[in-house]
Amino acid sequence: MPVTAYDLTGRTAFVTGAASGIGRACAVLLAAAGAVVHCADRDDRGLDETADLIKDKGGVAHTYALDVTDRALLGQAVAACERLDVMAAVAGIMHSSPVLETREEDLDRVLGVNFKGVLYACQEAARAMIASGTRGSIVTMASGAVDTGGPGLLCYGAAKAAVVQLTKTLATEMGPHGIRVNAVAPGWIRTPMTDRNDDETQARTEAFMARMSPLGRVGEPEDIAHAVLYLACDASAFTTGQILRPNGGVAMPW
Ligand SMILES: NC(=O)c1ccc[n+]([C@@H]2O[C@H](COP(=O)([O-])OP(=O)(O)OC[C@H]3O[C@@H](n4cnc5c(N)ncnc54)[C@H](O)[C@@H]3O)[C@@H](O)[C@H]2O)c1
Repeated sequence: MPVTAYDLTGRTAFVTGAASGIGRACAVLLAAAGAVVHCADRDDRGLDETADLIKDKGGVAHTYALDVTDRALLGQAVAACERLDVMAAVAGIMHSSPVLETREEDLDRVLGVNFKGVLYACQEAARAMIASGTRGSIVTMASGAVDTGGPGLLCYGAAKAAVVQLTKTLATEMGPHGIRVNAVAPGWIRTPMTDRNDDETQARTEAFMARMSPLGRVGEPEDIAHAVLYLACDASAFTTGQILRPNGGVAMPW
């Protein structure tokens, strides 16, 4: 018997950060579940590759080359969707610097992309859903960093903690409209963001991260995409304001 709660046929999803890693996996999986997927990213070549992956499997994809910190452009892209059922605000950047060496421009850049970019996507999506009376789902991308802290993680962790606060606050405000808002907080996932550009360091890092997990492996983008699909679809109809932690059971050592 088909599990219809996971069927997104007739629905439309907007995914930021869709040109790479987790965002690409989300876009591809949401399309495979039946959604028309609007893919946004600042990397236009990566966007085209994602759209090709979706279309090769018979899905429908539209692309928007934009920076998520550009509120006006993001608004135009969301407005271009005929309807909006799902927003997955995935775009993000990594930054690492010790607290005592962190510059104001580092903080501004990371908060700009990882927090304001998510905030703008949430605002645009919520406004569109309210205007059309759509009982939609908004999914933000936090990180395991919000639970642990860690050397160098001030800017990144602060932005992700702000995303958690945004998610919980927006969930309380959107509930009366039937709009759900949840976050995914992944553990260490193998993507370009975690690529160390050196095979030996990469292998050592992955082996360490795999040992930290009771499951004995690192995460893949598809592991996170499945969490996003769950939060996007009717299977999670009674779930809002939650932080889902697909992290392989890892309790970080620091
Ligand atoms: N990989 C991990 O271990 C991990 C763990 C926890 C959380 N996350 C979060 O998951 C999300 C996706 O990360 P990923 O690992 O897939 O990284 P990634 O680098 O593979 O993908 C990030 C995507 O975001 C896009 N992007 C970055 N800044 C942008 C901007 N200003 N405007 C538009 N697009 C922009 C990039 O072009 C890229 O396509 C991020 O929010 C990241 O913080 C990742």
